[in-house]
Amino acid sequence: MSAYPLYRPRRLRKKPFTRRLVAESTLQVADLIYPMFVLEGKNRTESVASMPGIDRMSIDLLIREAEELLRLGIPAVALFPVTPAELKSDCASEAFNPEGLAQKAIRALKEFVPELGVISDVALDPFTSHGQDGLMDESGYISNDETCEVLVKQALSHAEAGADIVAPSDMMDGRIGLIREALERQGHVNTCIMAYSAKYASSYYGPFRDAVGSAANIKGGNKLSYQMDPANTDEALREIALDIDEGADMVMVKPGMPYLDVVQRCKQEFGVPTFAYQVSGEYAMHKAAFANGWLAEEPVILESLLAFKRAGADGILTYFAKQAAEILGK
Ligand code: PBG
Repeated sequence: MSAYPLYRPRRLRKKPFTRRLVAESTLQVADLIYPMFVLEGKNRTESVASMPGIDRMSIDLLIREAEELLRLGIPAVALFPVTPAELKSDCASEAFNPEGLAQKAIRALKEFVPELGVISDVALDPFTSHGQDGLMDESGYISNDETCEVLVKQALSHAEAGADIVAPSDMMDGRIGLIREALERQGHVNTCIMAYSAKYASSYYGPFRDAVGSAANIKGGNKLSYQMDPANTDEALREIALDIDEGADMVMVKPGMPYLDVVQRCKQEFGVPTFAYQVSGEYAMHKAAFANGWLAEEPVILESLLAFKRAGADGILTYFAKQAAEILGK
């Protein structure tokens, strides 16, 4: 036995060039998707108290912001409309209104910033008076097949408005296949589907529900009858397998950091384009720690996002997308 270690792992850590050469994962601006909240009106912004740095904005300002995101190299945005209360209903018909806020925002983005990818959210929660993601029967249960019929109309209206990717976030059974079929039938053969395949019934969504104004009115108080139990991962793989079989081009795990084990298993098992959503609550808790001076903002943002890449994610939906792109571009 030599008195010296034969292999010293610290050798490769000594100089920046070797650290760069042996890095196994990298975070790039091309990995980032920026979620954005859209408001009715003109020249209007509203801050979201629980999401410092994130504003809801009207379409004209959204376009200006989108130009900036494109300049920073961000590939795509995910759009979430803030629906005025008077347009919400039990049947969620505003969801597929061709003149609805989401549809108008998609059209405007594709007209003025066509190179920026547009991902539209397919789910009914911004449009139902009770705040659930689907239609409710007399017993309070969210009916699956009736909801899917509305989701298909919503997805088609987004595709017609020009959405590049539709992203069903509702967790109804069978909706990916039905949406794919309808898109094909209507000639939208190149509209992609990013399936929120493993979406958990998480308590980290609170600030998002504040942002879109669905928090106050969730009847029944939870989404346990369709979103997944945080205890499960085999079930997540089964959900993902179903969505791939039904025609999903990309799959997603949500929330992000608390579920990186699921991201890793998904990528290893299926080897398909895999995305993760660092959700509003994850953003809020980071921001709170930064505001208190408890964590250093820029390195923690980058470390939190690199963790997704290490776990196997191809991309990350994150409210830090713009800030991370600015840091990476320095
Ligand atoms: C609803 C939807 C939610 C999010 C995206 N789409 C919330 C929910 O399921 O209640 C959460 C995103 C976030 O917390 O950042 N279809």
